[in-house]
Amino acid sequence: MAMHVSGACFSVFSGSRVGNIRAVASEGFATVKTAEDKVKLGGSDLKVTKLGVGAWSWGDTSYWNNFQWDDRKMKAAKAAFDTSLDNGITFFDTAEVYGSRASFGAINSETLLGRFIKERKQRDPEVEVTVATKFAALPWRLGRQSVLAALKDSLFRLGLSSVELYQLHWAGIWGNEGFIDGLGDAVEQGLVKAVGVSNYSEKRLRNAYEKLKKRGIPLASNQVNYSLIYRKPEENGVKAACDELGITLIAYCPIAQGALTGKYTPQNPPTGPRGRIYTAEYLRNLQPLLNRIKELGENYSKTSTQVGLNWLLAQDNVVPIPGAKNAEQAAEFAGALGWRLTDEEVNELRSMASEIKPVVSFPLENL
Ligand SMILES: NC(=O)c1ccc[n+]([C@@H]2O[C@H](COP(=O)([O-])OP(=O)(O)OC[C@H]3O[C@@H](n4cnc5c(N)ncnc54)[C@H](OP(=O)(O)O)[C@@H]3O)[C@@H](O)[C@H]2O)c1
Repeated sequence: MAMHVSGACFSVFSGSRVGNIRAVASEGFATVKTAEDKVKLGGSDLKVTKLGVGAWSWGDTSYWNNFQWDDRKMKAAKAAFDTSLDNGITFFDTAEVYGSRASFGAINSETLLGRFIKERKQRDPEVEVTVATKFAALPWRLGRQSVLAALKDSLFRLGLSSVELYQLHWAGIWGNEGFIDGLGDAVEQGLVKAVGVSNYSEKRLRNAYEKLKKRGIPLASNQVNYSLIYRKPEENGVKAACDELGITLIAYCPIAQGALTGKYTPQNPPTGPRGRIYTAEYLRNLQPLLNRIKELGENYSKTSTQVGLNWLLAQDNVVPIPGAKNAEQAAEFAGALGWRLTDEEVNELRSMASEIKPVVSFPLENL
């Protein structure tokens, strides 16, 4: 779901059955192969790789992909999936509202992820994939049953009998108590290993945590917008509450939808809806920070993308889930692991970033 702009940034549906890698990107890869390279998600028993991959753009024609989906983009997304696994990144984040269903050839992201998993398992039966998906708190959904019904539809699209993590995508206008009960039911029925929320304020997070705790179920995670240039979770109590309660913060838009990679400049801003957020003027203000990120990266033989992700990893208790559209992007993410910026560098980047006004986020985050 797009958290920066209002309007139709994801598809909403009802009743649902339905290369080459650059040398610089692959330098210093820390291929994640052992259990030590994983972290426990909050108080749950689920272990995930320290970094996951977001699948929002897969199949999407409402926010990403210049409103078009085709076979070439699908092959690139599949390569992103396979390359992630090849580099030891096994954690994938999708949602029932990611991707589209029928417009302009678009496909639901869960359907695509399920297809990629199936194809990979045919070649590599032992492959391990950790799937996170999300429930959309749409206004017409009510009660705990709606969570189980939506989850079963997600499982159908994914072609799986259970997922590792099920999250409430955002707080509903009403019905939230029932949705939390539904998460607990999903754990008890063995449909999910762990449960989390997303875009939850500190207050909502504490309530959800307490409600699940009464049933002996840990709230594993809160997925929120968090990056070097969007540090609201540090200011609104969400990061501190996650740390205090032992809930993992899953950071979405961790490279600010490409703005922190350094590839977008005032002369070359992103196209589509992102262009309205990361404007030429915004990108001009970002340049001093981007220059410093690049400089630091050069000292470590790392790219700007890897520095931006490493900054998040250095915050502890944070699992970033950058979105990858192709193999090259996915390969680059793995190089964010296995090294660490110094505390001085982490603080210097935060201080430089605090000079830049954050982009306006989607109001649902403040529910
Ligand atoms: N819970 C929520 O409400 C919520 C909201 C938003 C996102 N999410 C989740 O978080 C994930 C990540 O967020 P996001 O995809 O919005 O933003 P992001 O991870 O900050 O940015 C991803 C975009 O950056 C560009 N990019 C990626 N790697 C790159 C590289 N190595 N070099 C240059 N450009 C690169 C790609 O777009 P281009 O190539 O087109 O530039 C890619 O689609 C999503 O996929 C989704 O799973 C959740």
